[in-house]
Amino acid sequence: MYALITGASSGIGREIARQLAKHGYGLVLVSRDRKALDKLADELDTKTVVIPLDLSSQKNCLKLYHMLKDKPIDILVNNAGFGCYGEFAKTKLSNELNMIGLNVCAVHILTKLFVRKMLREGRGYILNVASLAAFAPGPYMATYYSTKSYVLKLTESVAAELRHSGKSVSISAFCPGPVATDFNNRAGVKFSIKPIDSGFAAYTALNGMFGRKTVIFPRRRDGLTAFAASLAPRRLTAVVCGHIQKRKSK
Ligand SMILES: NC(=O)c1ccc[n+]([C@@H]2O[C@H](COP(=O)([O-])OP(=O)(O)OC[C@H]3O[C@@H](n4cnc5c(N)ncnc54)[C@H](OP(=O)(O)O)[C@@H]3O)[C@@H](O)[C@H]2O)c1
Repeated sequence: MYALITGASSGIGREIARQLAKHGYGLVLVSRDRKALDKLADELDTKTVVIPLDLSSQKNCLKLYHMLKDKPIDILVNNAGFGCYGEFAKTKLSNELNMIGLNVCAVHILTKLFVRKMLREGRGYILNVASLAAFAPGPYMATYYSTKSYVLKLTESVAAELRHSGKSVSISAFCPGPVATDFNNRAGVKFSIKPIDSGFAAYTALNGMFGRKTVIFPRRRDGLTAFAASLAPRRLTAVVCGHIQKRKSK
């Protein structure tokens, strides 16, 4: 039994790796930082394969699949991702294209290829790390919110198809609000509300995934926030989210 985890070198991905190792899974750990992955592999009491790759490149996503296509991968965790803060007119296009490459294209490519493999093998779990940001427009983090919206819609749509497949293959979207990781440093923001612990986030994500839930919230209040955002007029949601994002500015 192996689990493939992207973005395993820090934050939520690293915690998911630690918890799956305790469940007895062998792990394939992917991110760009080989040193951090090796350090994690040394710490874990399970079989590990470390693959340093930049997944914002489509070529690398295909390469990763071809390296693993004959391995028994029972779980795919599409976790690698990042955000960036700023006015859309001013933020850097190249950084956003990389973000779309990682947050959208890598998730799309790996989901498709592993769904096919898992359907052939008759079993598997896919966990896509989306965000509460998927439920609302996100002024000042427009590209990030849009990428997470894609991840949520893709996951919900594929989940509906998989329910008719007659196979034990499921796909889930994990939708947390702020989590205490390196995410904020990379995005250039500070949290305006207290983040949840990354170990707790990973625990709730895996619980939901093993329960084959389609959309997973770490806390009840996150589900209520998403529900309220879906009921409120979209223009109002955009104003509220823009206000929240502005408070995150460093
Ligand atoms: N923290 C939050 O508040 C929060 C809330 C909702 C959703 N999320 C989502 O949770 C996921 C994990 O983020 P995190 O909070 O754990 O942040 P993090 O600590 O910054 O972890 C991000 C991970 O993605 C990897 N990564 C970044 N660029 C990559 C690339 N081009 N190719 C391969 N791997 C790459 C990083 O590793 P390397 O740098 O070694 O490549 C790292 O392992 C993301 O999808 C994020 O959008 C986070």
